[in-house]
Amino acid sequence: MVRAYRFRFLVVVALFAAAAIAAPAVAQQNPVELRKPDVIFVPTPQEVVEAMLKVAQVGPNDVVYDLGCGDGRIVITAVKEYGARGVGIDIDPQRIKEATENAERQGVTLGDRLEIRNADLFEADLSPASVVALYLLPSLNLKLRPKLWKELKVGSRVVSHAFDMGDDWPADQTLHVDGRTVYYWTITEAVKKRAEGGQ
Ligand SMILES: C[S@@+](CC[C@H](N)C(=O)[O-])C[C@H]1O[C@@H](n2cnc3c(N)ncnc32)[C@H](O)[C@@H]1O
Repeated sequence: MVRAYRFRFLVVVALFAAAAIAAPAVAQQNPVELRKPDVIFVPTPQEVVEAMLKVAQVGPNDVVYDLGCGDGRIVITAVKEYGARGVGIDIDPQRIKEATENAERQGVTLGDRLEIRNADLFEADLSPASVVALYLLPSLNLKLRPKLWKELKVGSRVVSHAFDMGDDWPADQTLHVDGRTVYYWTITEAVKKRAEGGQ
């Protein structure tokens, strides 16, 4: 338990530090970038990706959004292995390039079933999503929470690698996979009412 907390703490510190160091370099490489990423790219291990999609019971009727999709592995897996539609959103053009190449390498064509979008996740319309996948930071999850409550339909699912959504929105399920933690929530009428109340 102590090791798990220490690991989680080190991941948060590393993500913050690396984001601060990496941002100017990225901005120089690509002056048209939207703005610097709120968190750097650290990929979710494939075993954890599978656990995230399984706990959310992703299937052919789902539209899976990965907010901060990195190399696209979550949405590509959702399309390829679970028959879902996938939308990966990342603010960093380098990640968009990698996700596009990754999809091609894995034989998943961009188009009807997979979209990789260079955009700020906080500006995206989340209403088409039935599943939202996240691997961000605790502070970004909290910032995103009202938007998830407001824009997602009742019955939509949210799954987050490593980081929860605060004590006042406890996860419906918490899994431990290969030393990582996965949190899972369902959007209910009650949380949508909380969004209306501005919480
Ligand atoms: C920790 S990585 C997670 C990558 C992928 N979701 C995974 O689990 O393998 C976070 C990603 O979020 C992206 N990101 C950070 N801030 C963002 C923002 N405001 N809008 C969109 N993407 C963002 C980063 O570029 C990075 O690729």
